[in-house]
Amino acid sequence: MSANKIDVAGLKKGFPSDNGLLPVIDGVSFSVADGEFVAIVGPSGCGKSTLMNILAGFERPDEGAVVVDGTTVRGPSPRGIVISQHGSVFPWLTVQQNLMFGLEGEVHGEGGKAALADHYAAMVGLKGFEASYPHELSGGMLKRVEIARAFVMKPEILYMDEPFSALDALLSLRMRTELLRILEEERHTVLLITHDVEEAIYMADRIMVLSPRPASIQAAFDVPFARPRKLSNPDLQALKDAILRELGVAEV
Ligand SMILES: Nc1ncnc2c1ncn2[C@@H]1O[C@H](COP(=O)(O)OP(=O)(O)OP(=O)(O)O)[C@@H](O)[C@H]1O
Ligand SMILES: [Mg+2]
Repeated sequence: MSANKIDVAGLKKGFPSDNGLLPVIDGVSFSVADGEFVAIVGPSGCGKSTLMNILAGFERPDEGAVVVDGTTVRGPSPRGIVISQHGSVFPWLTVQQNLMFGLEGEVHGEGGKAALADHYAAMVGLKGFEASYPHELSGGMLKRVEIARAFVMKPEILYMDEPFSALDALLSLRMRTELLRILEEERHTVLLITHDVEEAIYMADRIMVLSPRPASIQAAFDVPFARPRKLSNPDLQALKDAILRELGVAEV
């Protein structure tokens, strides 16, 4: 058995379209070590969300397989939690109820569920808002609810699809830092999809660059810098330029 947390081998996926099959994923293979933080960057529409949906078990590949801890993924599992591009907080539940939603009553008891929810609400800076409804929160606070809701499930793998792209620049910078702080307290294997190369360099251990659709892995870069990282560091800037060149951004 492989020692990797995730092994992805020979993934291919297409969707039916008016002009026949639209190829979206074309031969993607990679591995992720236990506790590793891997970022995936690629041009818009190249197939990033499709890849994440296959990894998390929401979509089946046409060819190839995703293996987690030696077992082939055949559907979604609470061991791998997704923070999606679109957001998925329930508007009719309070912050605390949203956080308690996926927890089993038999395991934790109602009081235990509430205590866990409150612990994670505090961890993301939402102490005092446990009884608030989503419409009473700002966009940044909603994102925190989503992050807390993922962590409360104690997932072994956290899949994040552009988690901060709907936030303004300042807030997304703050959320990155907070997420890294939480990850220091609770180690998880993380896969982050982003179109923001700086975000990837700031957070990840390794960055994979996808080609335009149909997506294949065009290049991979290790990010060997100690955290907390400073984006002004010339070594980080050089890595950013190399990745942007790989993405075909002309000016660098
Ligand atoms: N369920 C589906 N049925 C049909 N086509 C789909 C489906 N999901 C994705 N596609 C198509 O696959 C292609 C890749 O979509 P995907 O959402 O994976 O891209 P992406 O890289 O995440 O894009 P973005 O950067 O805009 O988020 C697009 O052309 C999209 O229309
Ligand atoms: Mg997407």
